[in-house]
Amino acid sequence: MAPVSAKSVMIVGGSRGIGAAIVRHFASAGATVRFTYSGSRDAAASVAAATGAQAIWSDAGDRDALRSVIRDAGPIDILVFNAGLFLAGDPLELAADAIDRMIDVNVRAPYHAAVEAARAMPGGGRILFIGSVNADRTPFPGIAAYAMTKAALQGLTRGLARDFGARGITVNTIQPGPTDTDMNPSDGPFAAALHDVMAIKRHGTAEEVASLVGYLCGDQSGGITGAMHMIDGGFAA
Ligand SMILES: NC(=O)c1ccc[n+]([C@@H]2O[C@H](COP(=O)([O-])OP(=O)(O)OC[C@H]3O[C@@H](n4cnc5c(N)ncnc54)[C@H](OP(=O)(O)O)[C@@H]3O)[C@@H](O)[C@H]2O)c1
Repeated sequence: MAPVSAKSVMIVGGSRGIGAAIVRHFASAGATVRFTYSGSRDAAASVAAATGAQAIWSDAGDRDALRSVIRDAGPIDILVFNAGLFLAGDPLELAADAIDRMIDVNVRAPYHAAVEAARAMPGGGRILFIGSVNADRTPFPGIAAYAMTKAALQGLTRGLARDFGARGITVNTIQPGPTDTDMNPSDGPFAAALHDVMAIKRHGTAEEVASLVGYLCGDQSGGITGAMHMIDGGFAA
């Protein structure tokens, strides 16, 4: 198999948090890395400058724009769909349009990105989604819609693993628990309640998630597909 340094990697949503750590992981291994972003131009520019990766402005909620970005990148060996929105609150109060926007980014976009990438993906390719432990455990009220979007990735993962397995392409989902990012800061108002539910009472780090991404995208992981991989400090234990 080709070394990582010969691989083309696309990360959807790589300007901040877990996505930026995944960009750094693959760039430091010498891969050709492209990543998309939508709102954080300065953060994207500094990730690109620090890593040599190419930053591409593209709203994952714009289906056809995202498909074009993936098509224009040429054959992609590794696709990581990381972009995600987290909207929580009383379902009776949450705005319907905001929920639908979250579904567009968290569900529609990973489906279309994965299918588009698979068209030209070489044998031995890797498709990886960043899901959430909330697909399996929702210990608090207010996260039904978010949990629904992440549970959708489970069906997508299993189905696409069957669709593309004959080509040696693996499809997996990583399900992080609380991870220290802008979305869920380790010193945020919910940190103590989250740690109460965990076996290891701390937020994970974006680098820990990126390391698992690297493992699942490596040559040694060619037999791992159609599976969800927890990295949650025992949140779901
Ligand atoms: N942090 C946690 O505790 C946790 C736990 C479980 C799962 N996750 C999942 O892990 C993933 C990353 O989360 P994070 O904590 O790193 O979140 P974050 O700090 O909010 O970063 C989100 C990243 O996704 C990008 N993104 C969001 N909407 C986008 C869009 N429409 N188009 C393109 N890029 C978009 C953002 O880029 P821009 O700002 O440039 O738009 C940013 O780079 C998400 O899927 C999230 O659901 C996180």
